[in-house]
Amino acid sequence: MRVTFTANGREVEADDVWEGESLLFMLRERLGLPGSKNACEQGECGSCTVYLDGAPVCSCLVAAGQVQDREVRTVEGLADPETGLDDVQQAFVDAGAVQCGFCTPGLLVQSHDLLERNPQPSDNDIREALSGNLCRCTGYEKIMDAVRLASARKCSSSEVSQ
Ligand code: FES
Ligand code: FES
Repeated sequence: MRVTFTANGREVEADDVWEGESLLFMLRERLGLPGSKNACEQGECGSCTVYLDGAPVCSCLVAAGQVQDREVRTVEGLADPETGLDDVQQAFVDAGAVQCGFCTPGLLVQSHDLLERNPQPSDNDIREALSGNLCRCTGYEKIMDAVRLASARKCSSSEVSQ
């Protein structure tokens, strides 16, 4: 089957997609978008999280055929080719929230979504939003710091632009 959809703002096409192929496999193996990671392939770890029509989903649980004519945004699509890393990506770097990096793409998409919906989340809001994303390395505190930092930067830049 052929699947045509939008990935990070670009129309893309994948041929010979088999029944049961996941969106995660199609992104990584056919479309050269390896940012989303495959850690459990069972919807348990969140490392494969991408936006599908603006909502975060585990791409290992979405059949490739289901994205026909829909919009996918991966961690690669968070950065702006002109201005560089998104605030949340930069905050993860600055807060030292990346160790092995396996969980990072999913955490970035999920944190990005949280801050779009709620630019000033409480610690509980952050914990709840990221509860489906597992990290084996950081103990989560640096991840919390990163989201707090991205939130603080987002709020101060919107105050400056008012
Ligand atoms: S690889 Fe999809 S949730 Fe773990
Ligand atoms: S940084 Fe290694 S799993 Fe999170």
